[in-house]
Amino acid sequence: MSKKYLIGIDVGTSGTKCVLFDLEGNAITSCTEEYPMYQPQNCWAEQNPDDWWNAAKAALAKVTEQATDGEIAGIGLSGQMHSLVLLDKNNEVIRPAILWCDQRTAKDCEEIESIIGRDRLIEITANPALPGFTASKIMWVKNNEPENFEKIEHILLAKDFIRFKLTGEFATEVSDASGMQLLDIAGRCWSKEVCEKLGVKMNWLANVYESCEVTGRVTAEIAKVTGLTEGTPVAGGGGDNACAAIGTGVCKNGKAFTTIGTSGVVFAHTSSPKIDPKGRIHTFCAAVPGEWHVMGVTQAAGLSLNWFRNNLASDVSYAEIDKECEKLPIGCEKLIYLPYLMGERTPILDSDARGVFFGLSAMHTKYHMARSVIEGVSYSLYSCLEVLDEVGVETNDMALCGGGGKSRFWHEMIADVYGKNVKTMLSNEGASLGAAILGGVAAGVYSSVADGCEKAVKESSSISANMKKHSEYMKYYGVYKNIFPAVKECFKDLKVI
Ligand code: XUL
Repeated sequence: MSKKYLIGIDVGTSGTKCVLFDLEGNAITSCTEEYPMYQPQNCWAEQNPDDWWNAAKAALAKVTEQATDGEIAGIGLSGQMHSLVLLDKNNEVIRPAILWCDQRTAKDCEEIESIIGRDRLIEITANPALPGFTASKIMWVKNNEPENFEKIEHILLAKDFIRFKLTGEFATEVSDASGMQLLDIAGRCWSKEVCEKLGVKMNWLANVYESCEVTGRVTAEIAKVTGLTEGTPVAGGGGDNACAAIGTGVCKNGKAFTTIGTSGVVFAHTSSPKIDPKGRIHTFCAAVPGEWHVMGVTQAAGLSLNWFRNNLASDVSYAEIDKECEKLPIGCEKLIYLPYLMGERTPILDSDARGVFFGLSAMHTKYHMARSVIEGVSYSLYSCLEVLDEVGVETNDMALCGGGGKSRFWHEMIADVYGKNVKTMLSNEGASLGAAILGGVAAGVYSSVADGCEKAVKESSSISANMKKHSEYMKYYGVYKNIFPAVKECFKDLKVI
């Protein structure tokens, strides 16, 4: 019998990554192709969907070269959530994609809530109207670019655009569709009521599948340019967080993970759709059929440290930053950072918020600032965890994953700030591994998502929380929490200048 492989494709914000896995979840080879994010205005964020596709094609061609001794049984897709792709009647991209982290749609969110009613919207979509979500981006195009709105024939998410290119199918799946704010979250189908009220034609939307179902097959034309085989099944896959959950084994109650990618997410599985009435965390369909998850989001997690290093410490490596930061005391000698470079979701839900260094003194060095960035992001993640605790989801079995979170220093800080033992995973590929597992279920090599997790997800180490350090961090967290309410109005003043 020939060897079997799976491929996970993750259409991220900084690049698209393709990873070839064996059925035990070992990454055989991986390739990431990067692309730019455009910020034409303060807190706008756009990308060119053709950049994603060119990156995916190039990365696929490289990884398939390593699989010539076997068969690629299935492919799964993961991707940045919420980002809006509009296609015209010729299936051409109408305008650049408006990304998840774009914050231009505060007014459109107000409009959505006034049309549908906030309570009714939460009842159906499990979330209040948020600038990050796709519905408000569609409304923005309707309100500001009517000539583009007129041309719409298809609305897709980032990974679903790649699926269309691979298979010719317009399909999505429940986890990513949840972040569009057009889905009935409990019913796992498009909401006619929401779509009609917002003027979104239902035939613009892709067919919704469960994440582990076959949604299409690689076409002959694409097989030629990617090294894939015609007919290879492509699974629904999931939003990057839903896939990261599968890639870290978070597929039943009690299991949770924290990821530090461009954004940071604290995520927990739940077998019933638990909703925060204040809307501070998101409730979405999980990549496990018939189940859900809740998650809090820090908009600029890894993005904060990237931004800091690129602009203020480009002469040093991330490893040096870690080494120097480790020597500094908790609290950075009274310097606190608020990570609101791209507005914020959990828990403050404010697209006008911006980053703050609070307490800067002439004694502080760039390393104090770097450590305060890492601490500030960790506090922000902790505030997500507090809301998950409040709504009563269990988070005791906490895994860590995500590109920005490879640093041992940061992992230990998370354990100490949370006051919780955490574990790291053997594979760093979270989302790509999760996508590949879903591809494996669709292809029939695993009998269920849980079976795939059991066979392909392995823990690496566990990190115990130091409760003395936790108490020290909590003193600064107390101040951190009070800073935003104190300056909230100043952000509004800044916005209208
Ligand atoms: C989740 C979210 C981000 C993106 C990042 O709601 O907006 O985590 O998925 O890729």
